[in-house]
Amino acid sequence: MELARAVGLSLGDSPQIEFGFLLHDIGKVAVPDAILFKTSKLTEEEYALIAQHPVVGAEILRDVDFLGEGKLVVRHHHERWDGTGYPDGLAGEEIPLAARVFSVADTLDALTTDRPYRPASPWSEARTEIRRFSGSQFDPKVVDAFDQIPDEQFARLRGSL
Ligand SMILES: [Fe+2]
Repeated sequence: MELARAVGLSLGDSPQIEFGFLLHDIGKVAVPDAILFKTSKLTEEEYALIAQHPVVGAEILRDVDFLGEGKLVVRHHHERWDGTGYPDGLAGEEIPLAARVFSVADTLDALTTDRPYRPASPWSEARTEIRRFSGSQFDPKVVDAFDQIPDEQFARLRGSL
């Protein structure tokens, strides 16, 4: 939400967007734990099943009207700015802004937390990594807004969770 506020617009004050962020991976309930928590390489079939989670999630929430635009975050949080993401291969501004914002925040969170196959990166390294994918994976404008938020602010936010 901090990043949504930095991007501007009313995005940062929207409860619908916040719920969309919180529920983004709800579709993973359809993926067996043995696949979700697998630490070795995924087979093509396993990967295809995981890649369905945004579609499954959007389907689960389809009739929850008050989520409004939040549902677009659930469906599109794995799209990439260059159009090579999933599930719809949307590119650039075709991707809902909230989903473009979330994609950066999700990657920041992934990079800065311990995973079974690697330790957490420091904030500064995560920032370099995100900047490296500006214009390919991420919306450059969102990455610019992200760069306005200091590392200490992210550390503080994580501490308050
Ligand atoms: Fe996801």
